[in-house]
Amino acid sequence: MSEEAHEIYTEAAQVWNPNKVDVFHGFGVEMVMGERQGSVFKDLDGNSYINMHSNGGVFNLGHRNQEVIDALIDGLGKVDAGNHYFPSAYKNEACEKLLAVSPQNMKYVCFHNGGGESIDAAVKFARYATKRKRVVSLDCSFHGSTGIAMEAGSEVFSEFWGMKPDPQWYTHVPYNDLDALEQVLKLGDTAAVLIETIPATAGFPMPTEGYHKGVEELAHKYGALYIADEVQTGLLRSGEMWCCCKYGATPDMIVTGKGLSGGVYPMSAVIMSEESGSWLHKDGFAQVSSFTASELGCIVVSKVMDILTRPQTVENVQMLTQVFGDGLAQIQEKHSDFLVEVRQCGVIMGLHTAHPMGGMALMAALMKNGIWAVFADYDRSTLQFKPGLLMPRETAEDVLARLDVALGQAKMLAESGQLDGVM
Ligand SMILES: Cc1ncc(COP(=O)(O)O)c(C=O)c1O
Repeated sequence: MSEEAHEIYTEAAQVWNPNKVDVFHGFGVEMVMGERQGSVFKDLDGNSYINMHSNGGVFNLGHRNQEVIDALIDGLGKVDAGNHYFPSAYKNEACEKLLAVSPQNMKYVCFHNGGGESIDAAVKFARYATKRKRVVSLDCSFHGSTGIAMEAGSEVFSEFWGMKPDPQWYTHVPYNDLDALEQVLKLGDTAAVLIETIPATAGFPMPTEGYHKGVEELAHKYGALYIADEVQTGLLRSGEMWCCCKYGATPDMIVTGKGLSGGVYPMSAVIMSEESGSWLHKDGFAQVSSFTASELGCIVVSKVMDILTRPQTVENVQMLTQVFGDGLAQIQEKHSDFLVEVRQCGVIMGLHTAHPMGGMALMAALMKNGIWAVFADYDRSTLQFKPGLLMPRETAEDVLARLDVALGQAKMLAESGQLDGVM
């Protein structure tokens, strides 16, 4: 292990995050990212890792995408973060590009700097529009660490912080259960049904047929707004711009983030229907933040949207969907006693194993084989498998070959009990 990385870890344990350092030591690694480009990053020793986590989609367009960097550098020659009081051509352009790829009912865009912040905002917009307060969300979702987003997510984190959500304001229901949703909606006090289109932190369990359309219809039947959390599933990862639309649903608000940043400038957004944006006519200053719709950020967003809407990008996602679909089916057949289910929607993938710690073991084994992928935090039997949209075919094939090797190692590691108590 590199001396430089060891020094960084020792210092990090003192000034940054002792527990994170401990956890990585439990896995026997001291990873510090060095050079990075496209689908690959290196550690400080120069070992390469193919990024199959993409930081949840932050690196949707790969590391250090040259076009995004050029747009940002060009922008720095002209503007800065700008001022949240004033409109700007850069802001208008970014809004228009997002609206152009969204359902026709969408009319406005409100930018922030992280997904949690935009989830908080979307819920507030729904509460203002409906004059109600309850949020119904899934018990297996993660929507961010900010206030409302944390309370709407699985109770794991709100319990940790001693901030158990008030049951008059929040109700959690099981995924894929429209009856449970309707029971809550019948109370007639729900402002928003907030649904992560495919719950990432639960390991991407796939929706049942008609689920999202059913959510939309039930929300509207009982006077609530439907917010689609597309932070992990949006921006073409499903093969379509918004995954909820691929499943035939039209939400009242779409929340996007992560990849909107191009991997370089934190940006997130709430895309709103006329009703959801009703607050904008009453008090446009009611939702302010210093860096909202930063001009530099908007320049990055516009470039990201240009890349996402190119036919070559769409074709690459289709190619990756096919290569991973076919390859994973073959690998699963070979490792069927351990890899019990492959979940896939475009390049959103979850590898579900037979062992309760199988996802964690697979993460450790893949790392030894030069791949970075992360287990699902709410289901450690499952690994999240998320390539960037622009990954070349050869890299995808390389990933599959390495996965084949790592699966045998992961099974042994999971069964050895070595990972018990690491987290
Ligand atoms: C589905 C989903 N929604 C919201 C968020 C919050 O985004 P951020 O971390 O940018 O606040 C995340 C973060 O991982 C997420 O996975």
